[in-house]
Amino acid sequence: MHYFIYKNNKLFCEDVALETIAKKVGTPTYVYSQATLTRHFKAYEDVLKNHDHLVCFSVKANSNLSVLKLLSKLGAGFDIVSQGELYRVLKAGGNPQKVVFSGVGKTQEEMAYALQKNILCFNVESDQELALLNLVARKLKKKAPVSIRVNPDIDPKTHPYISTGLKENKFGIPIKEALALYQRASEFSAIQFIGIDCHIGSQMLSLEPILESVRELKKVILDLKQKGIHIRHLNIGGGLGIPYSKEVPPSPQEYLKDVLQELKDLKIKLLCEPGRTIVGNAGILLTKVLYTKKTTSKNFIIVDAAMNDLIRPTLYDAHHEIWPVEKRSLASISVDVVGPICESGDFLAKERELPHSHAGDFLAILSAGAYGFSMSSNYNSRPRVAEVLVNGKSFKVCRKRETLNDLIRGENL
Ligand code: LLP
Repeated sequence: MHYFIYKNNKLFCEDVALETIAKKVGTPTYVYSQATLTRHFKAYEDVLKNHDHLVCFSVKANSNLSVLKLLSKLGAGFDIVSQGELYRVLKAGGNPQKVVFSGVGKTQEEMAYALQKNILCFNVESDQELALLNLVARKLKKKAPVSIRVNPDIDPKTHPYISTGLKENKFGIPIKEALALYQRASEFSAIQFIGIDCHIGSQMLSLEPILESVRELKKVILDLKQKGIHIRHLNIGGGLGIPYSKEVPPSPQEYLKDVLQELKDLKIKLLCEPGRTIVGNAGILLTKVLYTKKTTSKNFIIVDAAMNDLIRPTLYDAHHEIWPVEKRSLASISVDVVGPICESGDFLAKERELPHSHAGDFLAILSAGAYGFSMSSNYNSRPRVAEVLVNGKSFKVCRKRETLNDLIRGENL
């Protein structure tokens, strides 16, 4: 459920007409709904309120400072994968004691930065990483809090590029080797094992793979207990899918209820790292029709947004609904919605039935709040677009559109 709705045939974000934003801020522009973000985050909090827990928003999905600040104020922790993401979280007022650091390739510098900021936990993905973290922590006279990310070899049944829990994937430590690694604790004097985690994939539409991995992790926790190793938290990662089109994924409520059921006889804090379910349907990409073009084989709508602004259709063949900002025509035609970039892969939709559009019309590309702006680039020397946060009747530009000067910042002749 989100707050992008038609009122008298005009598309609104909460109580602000998208046309107003398009005219004042220009296009392309990402527009986020504060009410939707809040509602999605609270859905997690509500189910978990009677269980020791921490919801760590996955910053890679959307790292805009205003989005992070809002979530932080609602009580969120954060899942980060780089020094840059931690820097953003801190700038947004996030509490480092609620930050978990994931990723297979943390550098020494990143480890030191995160240790100095006293983050909650490092999700460690290899024995070499553990050894290096131990060294870095020792030098800083710190103890590094660690969770081992295990790879349970479970098929999340999603797009191969966003599957992460299969044995052929680069992520985590094979589940069969996890116990042995925890038992080597004495070799790592500057490490404190506090948790276990996994993240098997993204845009998952069925709960079974997630529940299966929870059951596998539970077995490891029980084995650890038997060996006298007590950890404090279980982190189930993120990965729940959202409806982009006609999919009907389980709700966060259903998902978490089932997870809690699996854990009912285990006294352990539950962490999760949702990204897409919080922000995906809380954002749209607002774009303007530049031209329409009819060739012998196709109808094209050429818009001012492109694959550098939203790469998901090109990269994952992802479907994003496209709605007119003003509903005028009922008649529809099959079109390819494409951007100005010089690649045939630059499309936002293919062979889509859309109402007739004309140059100057505005369109909203839906479900673009997650992995939209955060994956955008300057390809074709296109300045990155503006971001707007709507709150009820008001809105603010929470990231200015880049300028031509921004494009060449740091370059020398
Ligand atoms: N935790 C870890 C360790 C992750 O790697 C990810 C996402 C998440 C949490 C958040 O997952 P979510 O709840 O958002 O599914 N760019 C792709 C998605 C890549 C996901 C990478 N990892 C896309 O646009 O679909």
